[in-house]
Amino acid sequence: MVAPKPGDTFKRYQIDGDFGVESLKIKDATVSPLGTDQVRIAVKATSINYRDLLVCKGLYNPNLKKPAVPLSDGAGEIVEVGSSVKRVKVGDRVMGAFMPRWISGSPNNDVVRLALGGGGDEGMLSQYVVLDEDAVVEIPAHLSFLEAATLPCAAVTAWHALFEDDCLKPGQTVLTQGTGGVSLFAIQFAQAAGAHLISTSGSDEKIVKLKNMGVVNTINYKQTPGWGKETLKLTSMNGVDHIVEVGGGGTLGESFKAVKIGGHIALIGVLSGAQNQVNPMPLLMKAIRLQGVYVGSRSMFESMNAAITLHKIKPVIDRVFGFEEAQDALRYMESAQHFGKIVIHVG
Ligand SMILES: NC(=O)c1ccc[n+]([C@@H]2O[C@H](COP(=O)([O-])OP(=O)(O)OC[C@H]3O[C@@H](n4cnc5c(N)ncnc54)[C@H](OP(=O)(O)O)[C@@H]3O)[C@@H](O)[C@H]2O)c1
Repeated sequence: MVAPKPGDTFKRYQIDGDFGVESLKIKDATVSPLGTDQVRIAVKATSINYRDLLVCKGLYNPNLKKPAVPLSDGAGEIVEVGSSVKRVKVGDRVMGAFMPRWISGSPNNDVVRLALGGGGDEGMLSQYVVLDEDAVVEIPAHLSFLEAATLPCAAVTAWHALFEDDCLKPGQTVLTQGTGGVSLFAIQFAQAAGAHLISTSGSDEKIVKLKNMGVVNTINYKQTPGWGKETLKLTSMNGVDHIVEVGGGGTLGESFKAVKIGGHIALIGVLSGAQNQVNPMPLLMKAIRLQGVYVGSRSMFESMNAAITLHKIKPVIDRVFGFEEAQDALRYMESAQHFGKIVIHVG
């Protein structure tokens, strides 16, 4: 691909007036010269996470610096590199790391503040983005751009939850909630690691899809609101080793019932609410290890890619939208009809 020249224009979505999905518009932006350690990426595909919907609606950060380009996840081809760039080269297929400055170790305020599509200077809903050379990760060879665009947030979060803070072991049992991006990656990683799964969904139709993925034990959390007790029954009253908790306030109480003594809960999302009251007693009585997870570092991303490559894991994509259809894609996420990832084909 030919690199655009400084002064050329390209298209990107911008949040620059009122918040709201309907306010999100395509705008012309101007190509600026690269810094010495930067790379220019022609974005081929991007994917949506629940956070992106919150960002666009002004619910993630009401003080968002505008104009802002939304979406954290994207994959594309490097078309230009700065004069001192050594890690990557023109033509490489790459994804952006969710937090461009979190390379390894623990995060700090600075790395968290600069996450793509929600506070930092760049977002992926754009034909071109400029990132530091350290902020990109090579795409596993067996994945297309559309597939790779699903990895930076949901997949890295699921990986972090299961393998970084508390390493899942073969033969252990993992409970996942719902059938969004994070949960389906968690299922695929747990299957590759030889773990048992118990997966919930609020839809019988999606439960059939979970079964088709090889998940034997499923619970409809709408029909069985007491799914914590049901999980105990499915595990000979022992409980599960790990829970990938995306529900938050409204589901933690059931998770405390479902987890085994000394088990691990990775708190990732608050789909069921953030303000609910939760009785903390089981945390101590069952010696539960409750760990908050915020996506992950580039090093975690690379470890995950090694596993994805080894096991030839393919992300589950529900639907692909065109670049002009970003509003529809966000509304589709809002409707919660999806099973897995929603992708936007940029070009
Ligand atoms: N901490 C982090 O770093 C991080 C990273 C990524 C995502 N997140 C958060 O994690 C959550 C999931 O993200 P995602 O991108 O996977 O979202 P998503 O793709 O939008 O998944 C939503 C799905 O979750 C299920 N769900 C909704 N309400 C539920 C409830 N009360 N109990 C159980 N399942 C419920 C539904 O599946 P069914 O229709 O099958 O029930 C729904 O389709 C969000 O809150 C997101 O903000 C956090």
